[in-house]
Amino acid sequence: MVEMSRNKVFLLGFMGCGKSTLGRHLAKALGWEFIDLDDYFEQKFKTTVPLFFKEFGETGFRDGERAALQDLKSVDEAVIATGGGAPCYFDNMDFMNEHGVTLYMKVSPEILAQRLTNSKNVRPLVQGKTGAELITYIKEKLKSREPFYNRANIIADAEVLDLSGYLRVLEGIGIT
Ligand code: S3P
Repeated sequence: MVEMSRNKVFLLGFMGCGKSTLGRHLAKALGWEFIDLDDYFEQKFKTTVPLFFKEFGETGFRDGERAALQDLKSVDEAVIATGGGAPCYFDNMDFMNEHGVTLYMKVSPEILAQRLTNSKNVRPLVQGKTGAELITYIKEKLKSREPFYNRANIIADAEVLDLSGYLRVLEGIGIT
């Protein structure tokens, strides 16, 4: 049997589920590094995610995102917040399951919509969408994305768990 790599935790989930916020807190509590894949992407390509989308479209973005993810292969002791679409393209989910522990932060479409509406971050895929249109978009996207998210090692109810809850879950698989 293949041993699970435990020196990285990849946080997965829809835009607005709280990956970056939790990632920062988890990394601090574990004494690990925190890496936000979108931030790393922006450093690597010396641009912003929205500008990159504008210039190269979503297809170009996905290629760059995969390359950014692959760069993190040999990073040790890090919590990595991935972009909401990252697990759903190419072999990214296999890559993450091979190189670390994957944790899906599950949140309902209604709460995601609320958070995205209140967020200051520019997210090209939901820009300009509000109310019922946004909820419908999230539900449709989740339908195609959840089969990937559900391949995570851990599926967490992110509406309920707090930091100590996550730490207990990780402790259960040997991450302390
Ligand atoms: C995306 C999510 C974003 C960012 C990009 C595309 C997606 O990251 O990678 O705008 O496809 O869901 P967050 O999940 O951190 O918002």
